[in-house]
Amino acid sequence: MTRKLIAGNWKMNGSLADNEALLRAVLAGLPAAPAADVAVCVPAPYLAQVQALCQGTALAWGAQDVSAHERGAYTGEVSAAMLRDFGCRYVIVGHSERRQYHGESDEAVAAKAQRALAAGITPIVCVGETEAQRDAGQTEAVVKRQLAAVIHTVGHCVSEIVVAYEPVWAIGTGKTATPEQAQAVHAVLRAQIKAATPQAARVKLLYGGSMNPANAAALLAQPDIDGGLIGGASLKAEEFLRIVRAAV
Ligand code: 13P
Repeated sequence: MTRKLIAGNWKMNGSLADNEALLRAVLAGLPAAPAADVAVCVPAPYLAQVQALCQGTALAWGAQDVSAHERGAYTGEVSAAMLRDFGCRYVIVGHSERRQYHGESDEAVAAKAQRALAAGITPIVCVGETEAQRDAGQTEAVVKRQLAAVIHTVGHCVSEIVVAYEPVWAIGTGKTATPEQAQAVHAVLRAQIKAATPQAARVKLLYGGSMNPANAAALLAQPDIDGGLIGGASLKAEEFLRIVRAAV
């Protein structure tokens, strides 16, 4: 069975003081060898702090976005090589908040995933439908289109990515997809990856969207759910740790 991955997405939250308290509490509660891989994806300015606190521990870290460009005149952007300098193992790409508020296209997301892979960083590629798309019966088509753009760009390296299915209507709303709803979409994504690489079993498929200690175990018990991408609950050490403990 695939080792599960529980990744926190802090989004635009935190401060030096809050991060230190949160990380110390998470580190104190993590077993030396957790049953799952565990990571936090933090705002870029805090990467040095997180690196200093988490180096040599069971807690990996990553960023929440990366530039599609390698280097140069791209004011405000952060390159994959810069993330690597700070020890990032992961970077989230194509989060729905970036697709929605920053106009990121499927092609831009694919280019970001490729930059991450080229720098030796695992991209966590987010896909997911809006409520209107679900109501219109377009869920499968939307997530397949989003993932297809990445497969088209990265080719056989798709075996090195992580995919996070995050239904937009479940993010930050307290409205979780049921385990059956999530599993149905994960099965579609698994089949798509199987068709793209013989190494499909390596690819972890995370669920994200109002995952919390109460619903994590049932979601994580689904055959094609290999972990979680946790927003709000990753800002509270005890909640995050309880989700980690549910990932066996
Ligand atoms: P919430 O867990 O706050 O719903 O956020 C999910 C998410 O967007 C993780 O990337």
